[in-house]
Amino acid sequence: MSYVLIIGAKSDIAQAIAKKYAENNYDLYLAARQVNELNIFAKDLAIRSKQTVQCVELDILDTASHHTFYHALPEKPEGVITAVGYLGSQDLAQTDFKETHKIIDTNYTGVVSLLNIIAEDFEQRHSGFIVGISSVAGDRGRKSNYIYGSAKAALSAYLSGLRNRLYSSGVQVLTVKPGFVATKMTAGMALSPRLTAQPEAVANAIYKAQQKKNNVLYTKGLWKWIMLIIKHIPEGLFKKLSI
Ligand SMILES: NC(=O)c1ccc[n+]([C@@H]2O[C@H](COP(=O)([O-])OP(=O)(O)OC[C@H]3O[C@@H](n4cnc5c(N)ncnc54)[C@H](OP(=O)(O)O)[C@@H]3O)[C@@H](O)[C@H]2O)c1
Repeated sequence: MSYVLIIGAKSDIAQAIAKKYAENNYDLYLAARQVNELNIFAKDLAIRSKQTVQCVELDILDTASHHTFYHALPEKPEGVITAVGYLGSQDLAQTDFKETHKIIDTNYTGVVSLLNIIAEDFEQRHSGFIVGISSVAGDRGRKSNYIYGSAKAALSAYLSGLRNRLYSSGVQVLTVKPGFVATKMTAGMALSPRLTAQPEAVANAIYKAQQKKNNVLYTKGLWKWIMLIIKHIPEGLFKKLSI
């Protein structure tokens, strides 16, 4: 069966996605930094699913390594799913550009560096799918997380353009915009259970949307309507809401 390459494979959402694709008979490349930490997960998944699961080292910030990383894969993947992300600290980022830089580079620049290389390959092969996990935070800048949000907004715009470019080559690009998801990233935050998805539910929704060749997925679905309302609040009012 074909390979799916999962970027940021130590992420809780990525691990749920890995299980979902393995269950559906895909072989996997799990790419992460300090990927040896995934060895037990990968072995267990390979035994349960009877699929091939290979761990590959990747630091999304090491853009100089991305070309060699991709072209060294033993077999080119049918699809790529990127779950890499860094929420960081909005407060710190406002005064320390190093934190701003890390948020932008992890969520945007590094992902673009790698997807540029993969997009070239998929375009030439006239096949493939690219799933990028962005965020509802990219739909409108808010005081509480606008540096992370602006990097995700850039990623959403990049994926939209990539979808337009690759359409005529038969390559699918799916933008995923999760709302709250219960993962390491949100651990300790007081999140409304009604608005918070579990990683397994996000993985199921991504698999379904990717197989149906959808373009954009909000998960939970309710976030599509929440963001529609948020996007339409007049700026004069929005700036007074303090969110
Ligand atoms: N959780 C939410 O509420 C939520 C909402 C909207 C969007 N998202 C997005 O969903 C995606 C998955 O996040 P998650 O919630 O599953 O959080 P997570 O468990 O914290 O996953 C983020 C992953 O990114 C990896 N990463 C960070 N910097 C990296 C680098 N330089 N090179 C390689 N990997 C790196 C981390 O690896 P290490 O383990 O090595 O640090 C971590 O495994 C992210 O893009 C996130 O922005 C999450």
